[in-house]
Amino acid sequence: MKKLLMIAAATTFMVSGFAATTAVAGDYTKKCKACHKTDKNAVGPSFKNIQAAYGDAATLASVWESGFKVEDRKIAGNPCNPNYGKYHKKAKTMTGQYKKLIAGGVKKGKITYKELADMVFSK
Ligand code: HEC
Repeated sequence: MKKLLMIAAATTFMVSGFAATTAVAGDYTKKCKACHKTDKNAVGPSFKNIQAAYGDAATLASVWESGFKVEDRKIAGNPCNPNYGKYHKKAKTMTGQYKKLIAGGVKKGKITYKELADMVFSK
């Protein structure tokens, strides 16, 4: 009986562990799609314009990790960026999404900043 219970526990662990590293991480940018498209600016800037502004995923991950302050953002916090005028006044919208989806997702163990930045850069 004891042996059976252990097998059951191990199986549950393996199944849930697998789901956590594949399905959840793989789907995460779907949550961003309500406002972000790959090639075209929408409610938020396109993933291509985000890539151009940040240069690489490590830079984006580090700005998220240090709190994503508006003045640190390469689009909404940088008057030299071509999309600054369009998005500077919308920074608060993204601040709410950052707290809920990005920092919130990291806190819950759904994603790391680097994993999410890599996904944005793979678009
Ligand atoms: C409800 C709409 C909405 C959702 C959902 C959303 N964003 Fe945004 N996002 C915006 C808006 C508006 C801006 C422009 C303001 C800004 O740049 O701060 C923006 C800007 C950004 C920027 C550029 C920041 C800058 O100014 O340099 C990044 C990076 C970003 N979003 C990533 C994401 C990711 C990743 C997700 C999903 C986890 C996401 N967003 C979900 C609305 C949204």
